[in-house]
Amino acid sequence: MVAICSLGMLSFFSWSQVATGCITTQLSHDLKVQAAEKLNVFRFDARSGMWLQVAGMLERRTRFHAEVISDRIVVVGGGSLLGNLTQTVEEYQPKDNKWEFTAPFPMAVADHAGTIHKGILYISGGFFSGKATNNLHSYLPRLRRWVINHNMTFARCDHGMVTIGDKIFCLGGRKLNDSEEWIHVSETEYYCPTSDQWTILKSFPLDCSQFSICAKQSKILITGGGSLRQMKKEDSVYLYDPEARTWMRAGSLPHPLVDHASCSLKLSHLMFFKIADQGAAAITEQ
Ligand SMILES: *[C@@H]1O[C@H](CO)[C@@H](O)[C@H](O)[C@H]1NC(C)=O
Ligand SMILES: *[C@@H]1O[C@H](CO)[C@@H](O)[C@H](O)[C@H]1NC(C)=O
Ligand SMILES: *[C@@H]1O[C@H](CO)[C@@H](O)[C@H](O)[C@H]1NC(C)=O
Repeated sequence: MVAICSLGMLSFFSWSQVATGCITTQLSHDLKVQAAEKLNVFRFDARSGMWLQVAGMLERRTRFHAEVISDRIVVVGGGSLLGNLTQTVEEYQPKDNKWEFTAPFPMAVADHAGTIHKGILYISGGFFSGKATNNLHSYLPRLRRWVINHNMTFARCDHGMVTIGDKIFCLGGRKLNDSEEWIHVSETEYYCPTSDQWTILKSFPLDCSQFSICAKQSKILITGGGSLRQMKKEDSVYLYDPEARTWMRAGSLPHPLVDHASCSLKLSHLMFFKIADQGAAAITEQ
């Protein structure tokens, strides 16, 4: 198996009564392999603990963003073949096992972040036209339309974006400075969709990018990522409480990871123990 570069992973609660699924796609870093490769999408079936292959996307992409909007999955932009960026957007209907193109994103972008708030998909930042951007757009799924929102204060890519209550948080990431070198964007800011305003949150600086992020009740879970200063991958799992503005180290990943994806699954107790068993087996196998 070639190196997996997987940048879309999400949980899909309405798949069927019990199953929770995730998608992931692989695109090799090796360009020759990439040209010959099919773009694969897999679904994790929590009941069997297996990854099942589903219909492939219409366009090859990596460094994209995937999100669940009601009964479908939406994937936005990303890097396409041989390093080009794409602005295409595809929707996946699980009941038909079918992908189709929808309204393209306003710009060809990769390494952006996204989140859902009240059924609307928000996409922030990313790498566009040779630099990090501060744009914020939202996708209205019924109208299949992209709307321009207020820009973030800080341009960033490879950052994290997550919804907690009525706020959308953007954390970490990186940008190119005036001498075209990557530097961290350590500021945290949040967006209020009702007022279309960003607010900078005074908190501990997060010098990290390419981590994965998900909401855990009112807290933010950050796993792995890369530090430019130390030039190393992280294996840490942090819990950030935006109300109290406190960070807590919650554990470690089995391996340091960057450019990975994570999602949270709601599982029954039975399912939880089954997966915990399988997880332990998978770790021992390596
Ligand atoms: C990449 O983009 C350039 C400019 O838009 C285009 O000419 C070229 O054909 C694209 N390459 C691939 C492999 O799609
Ligand atoms: C957002 O910032 C971009 C530059 O990154 C600028 O061109 C654009 O006019 C700004 N948009 C809004 C809505 O302020
Ligand atoms: C860009 O970042 C590099 C690495 O942190 C630093 O050495 C350099 O001085 C910065 N350049 C500018 C113009 O800020």
